[in-house]
Amino acid sequence: MEILIINGGMPKGGRTELLTRFIAKEYQFSYIDISEIQLPLLTGEQEQWQLPNVVFFKEKVKEADGIILISPEYHGGMSGALKNTLDYLTREELAHKPVALLATAGGGKGGINCLNNMRTVMRGFYANVIPKQIILDPDCFDYEDGTLLEESRHLLAKMVEELKMYVKMSHTFIVPRE
Ligand SMILES: Cc1cc2nc3c(=O)[nH]c(=O)nc-3n(C[C@H](O)[C@H](O)[C@H](O)COP(=O)(O)O)c2cc1C
Repeated sequence: MEILIINGGMPKGGRTELLTRFIAKEYQFSYIDISEIQLPLLTGEQEQWQLPNVVFFKEKVKEADGIILISPEYHGGMSGALKNTLDYLTREELAHKPVALLATAGGGKGGINCLNNMRTVMRGFYANVIPKQIILDPDCFDYEDGTLLEESRHLLAKMVEELKMYVKMSHTFIVPRE
């Protein structure tokens, strides 16, 4: 089972990167860091679809059995850089694919708008966004170890379990991709 994490955070050394690395290590999942592939602003020009990183990104998402999408909440939504990156995808890569959502937020009960925004956008791709979702505030992390605190780890484990269940279901019923 191939689960791909998409890290929609931009700053290196931020909480979104820490979270991505933690999940990748804990569960042996691969990840794509949008700050590394740096897809240009989508202009709709034909040449953009042939760019090596665009081709790479689309292939990785298509090959994955399930996706974990992570973004910081920026002004009540996902990061603009992540939205631009996702705009390169189509239903061909995502239709009926199980997707789990996590948001990092500044505290003060932020993060839910980012999750709702990602859910709406993923629905536009006909992705199967699973019910469980998680917001990580600054106090959910163990910064010394680069890990999550116990309660968040537990929520994450439950989410991964649910994601895997939906992936297995999608294999069982051979869900059409379009
Ligand atoms: C431009 C910007 C906008 C932000 N907007 C929000 C927001 O609307 N709600 C919120 O809870 N946190 C907001 N934050 C805080 C970030 O979501 C939070 O610090 C998150 O951990 C940032 O991810 P990073 O640590 O990977 O950089 C904002 C931060 C920045 C830089």
